[in-house]
Amino acid sequence: MAKRKHKRETEQRFARIAQTVAQSTSPVKDADDGSRGNHHDAPLTDDELSSSAALASLAFSSDSQELTKMKKFRFQLLHQWIVNRIQPCRVADVAGGKGLLAYLLQESGWSATVIDPIEQGLPSKYKDLESSRQVRVQKNERVPRLNCEFDPGMVEDFDLLVAMHAHGCNIQLIDAAAELGREVILLPCCVIHEPILPPPGVHWIQWLAEYVIGKGFAVEPFRLNFKGQNIGIYAHKAG
Ligand SMILES: C[S@@+](CC[C@H](N)C(=O)[O-])C[C@H]1O[C@@H](n2cnc3c(N)ncnc32)[C@H](O)[C@@H]1O
Repeated sequence: MAKRKHKRETEQRFARIAQTVAQSTSPVKDADDGSRGNHHDAPLTDDELSSSAALASLAFSSDSQELTKMKKFRFQLLHQWIVNRIQPCRVADVAGGKGLLAYLLQESGWSATVIDPIEQGLPSKYKDLESSRQVRVQKNERVPRLNCEFDPGMVEDFDLLVAMHAHGCNIQLIDAAAELGREVILLPCCVIHEPILPPPGVHWIQWLAEYVIGKGFAVEPFRLNFKGQNIGIYAHKAG
């Protein structure tokens, strides 16, 4: 009985958030003024990339590689990027959804916690990209989760804040990380419930990269091998 009630509440919560998302991303077409409205899920073009000091190194960089169509591998790809580039530390997987990124980091010996207001279980399986095999996630496996919206007060407990395709918390997260000297990895997609917006005609990712630099971070842009919003910004201490 309690299980059914919980399921119904979760479904209602999903429906409410989906409705909010639909409203806040409308219209999805370019606005009359030539800007992209507030929907920035369209990948940045090479021209937009080259016009951005922070992201220019990524322009034309995807020509030589075949981008996989499978956006669902983004967790594995980001996990690989993180463990190859950064020393193990305490990670907050902000807006982490089901928590696959946190799970993979945990499997690699990192400490990782999901922060997301929608309570969800881990996926039952995922593809290991190195072996191309499906890996089962046992029913009893867990990652630490805070089933609530991101709050700047949480930052103290982490060294690195990761936000992939996160809604509603990119600006808050950058501000909090800058204040407490934490590192950040963002893979931004749409602009949903953010307190500040880029001016018309400026892509959200391009603008966020400038915002991060303005907060005193050094920015290392990167691109993951999947089709869709695949550009990441690694923001760390300058120098
Ligand atoms: C597009 S999903 C991305 C999920 C996952 N990172 C992925 O790449 O599939 C956006 C997520 O943001 C979460 N979210 C919305 N508002 C949030 C907030 N204020 N703080 C943290 N997470 C939030 C939603 O619950 C949802 O799981």
